[in-house]
Amino acid sequence: MKPKVLVARRAPAAVVDKLAAHFDVDFHPGESPLSPDELRARLQGKAGAYITGTERITAELLDACPQLKAVCTMSVGYNHIDLAACTARRVLVTNTPDVLTETTADFGFALLMATARRMSEGERLLRDGRWKSWAWDFLAGSDVYNSTLGILGMGRIGQAIARRGRFGFGMKVIYHNRSRLPAETEAELGARYLAKDELLRQADHLVLVLPYSAESHHCIAAAELALMKPTATLINVARGGIVDEDALAAALCEHRIAAAGLDVFEGEPRVNPALLTLPNVVLTPHIASATMPTRIAMATLAADNLIAALTGAPPPTPLNPEILTA
Ligand code: DGY
Repeated sequence: MKPKVLVARRAPAAVVDKLAAHFDVDFHPGESPLSPDELRARLQGKAGAYITGTERITAELLDACPQLKAVCTMSVGYNHIDLAACTARRVLVTNTPDVLTETTADFGFALLMATARRMSEGERLLRDGRWKSWAWDFLAGSDVYNSTLGILGMGRIGQAIARRGRFGFGMKVIYHNRSRLPAETEAELGARYLAKDELLRQADHLVLVLPYSAESHHCIAAAELALMKPTATLINVARGGIVDEDALAAALCEHRIAAAGLDVFEGEPRVNPALLTLPNVVLTPHIASATMPTRIAMATLAADNLIAALTGAPPPTPLNPEILTA
């Protein structure tokens, strides 16, 4: 008898086939995520859950699904999973780091460029037939080359964005992180560590790449925005809940900062209506890791994790490896 697993979202056919070679797969092929009640019902009797960032794994859900042994998410972020509750119940959790780092950094940088150079605003104006003539200040944005790139959260993706800024665009790189990078990494990236307030004051472009947690919830709110330059841009490719969107909309509306580029939203796919009406914000639907090769690599890594977790092999990227040895 093969172990039973739930594949809670669509995945590449080859990956579903690979899982089906090892498991009795219950596959949810729909475009919308399962509701919490549907997820609980479909997880009954399952040893493994193959999920994405749209499925929440809570302590209550775990208690209702005592046969669950492994939760493997096709995402690097895991704020949708109560990791402590999983560990306490000896449920192995895995994520998909590394395989999306460069793709996500490319997108973060693209969003920075689009925001600073007002590309969405220009395209909307052109498509609406509002392009009348050339003028010296027509859609004039801010420079990227040679400016100061601030990075809040200097993990793998933050460092990859720093490299693009430093070596591609001659930017001065400053950063803040919970823990300071080793001196040799700072030297390699040409990155200078600053206190968070000082980072906010000095950055021309501030990119948020920190993990979402109770600690980082709304860590960019009115007080933080007030420290930023009126010419600054704010880019978020991490999680929506890091930014207080009402405070951001007010700052953008009153031109207390110049512009924002957001790929993630608190309560997505719902977007704060105040943001939708502002011209100086570029909005994209959580697609920073969305290239075909990267999504296939993420899907494959999540499957490899699940196969290893339920066949007694060491999973490639566990989040709570301590339960494997305890
Ligand atoms: C991630 O991997 O965490 C991305 O946000 C996609 O969900």
